[in-house]
Amino acid sequence: MLSKITVVGAGNVGATTAQRLAEKELARTVVLVDVIEGVPQGKALDQYESAPIEGFDTRIIGANDYGPAAGSELVVVTAGIARKPGMSRDDLVRTNADIVKQVSQQIKQNCPKAIVVVVSNPLDVMCWVTKQVTGFSRERVIGMAGVLDTARYRAFLAEALDVSVRDIQAMVLGGHGDTMVPLVSYTTVSGIPVTQLLDKAKLDKIVDRTRNGGAEIVAFLKTGSAYYAPSSAVVQMVESIVLDQKRLLPCAAWLQGEYGLSGMYCGVPCKLGKNGLEKIIEVELTADEKSALKKSADGVTQTMAAVTL
Ligand code: NAI
Ligand code: 2OP
Repeated sequence: MLSKITVVGAGNVGATTAQRLAEKELARTVVLVDVIEGVPQGKALDQYESAPIEGFDTRIIGANDYGPAAGSELVVVTAGIARKPGMSRDDLVRTNADIVKQVSQQIKQNCPKAIVVVVSNPLDVMCWVTKQVTGFSRERVIGMAGVLDTARYRAFLAEALDVSVRDIQAMVLGGHGDTMVPLVSYTTVSGIPVTQLLDKAKLDKIVDRTRNGGAEIVAFLKTGSAYYAPSSAVVQMVESIVLDQKRLLPCAAWLQGEYGLSGMYCGVPCKLGKNGLEKIIEVELTADEKSALKKSADGVTQTMAAVTL
């Protein structure tokens, strides 16, 4: 258990993440920070009042400043605005870059030793903003998207095959956008290649639905985007770091030549342990997967160009 984890942004993703972190007792204290007066305080108190029922001893504190967050060992950044129908993740870039810049300055000042898990969109670009502004090493600034995209892919496959979600092993790489790369060649059902169980047309449909998984939820909700599965995904990453589980999870990492890519964040298989990003695992890709990953990374670079640091 860590001493303190801070979640910045007490909206849908941030608040749900705080509750899940507390229920798993991953820190003695969880601090929820937001700019809206009363909201982090009210949500934190409401969540803490669930503690006797859920049986956790984590304290949850809400604040509008970073005083209570000082010295946090891990910070989750969910501050920003979410997608509305018709908006792409990239439409969010300028507004969220300004917000994430300001949040990153506060993290640098108040939590200089923290590992940061970034969630705000457009994810890969916000990871870069966070890394640049904090000056933290790539081991300490990691983005959540691949775990969510992979969970969606696994859920759709389990539904199509009528099997347990637990038996689907898969990874979705690339930037968190419509060009993400579900690795069909590495997808198995209890070790059986998925290509032996589903025909190409069905697999193509599932890949397409995965790529549009975020938009599918936005179209239903109309006033916001997904948060139950995203918060679960964040907590799986945090748990691997806090408990030094060394899980191999698809995360956005700063690339320095891996997969032939450099100078951008992109989703790749990562080992997460007590030091944050402990290793990037390079696996062989088919020619199609390689070019899809390159195309996805190029998209991230283009969006980076819209941000002035
Ligand atoms: P939300 O609108 O419910 O919450 C965002 C919160 O951030 C609001 O409470 C707002 O007051 C707060 N905020 C704004 N500026 C702030 C600042 N300077 N400091 C502290 N808090 C600030 O949005 P939601 O649904 O929680 O999503 C949050 C972000 O996460 C969005 O950018 C969304 O697109 C992204 N997201 C990313 C996912 C991923 O896979 N990487 C998945 C789901 C959401
Ligand atoms: C999602 O994929 C909006 O990025 C968010 O649900």
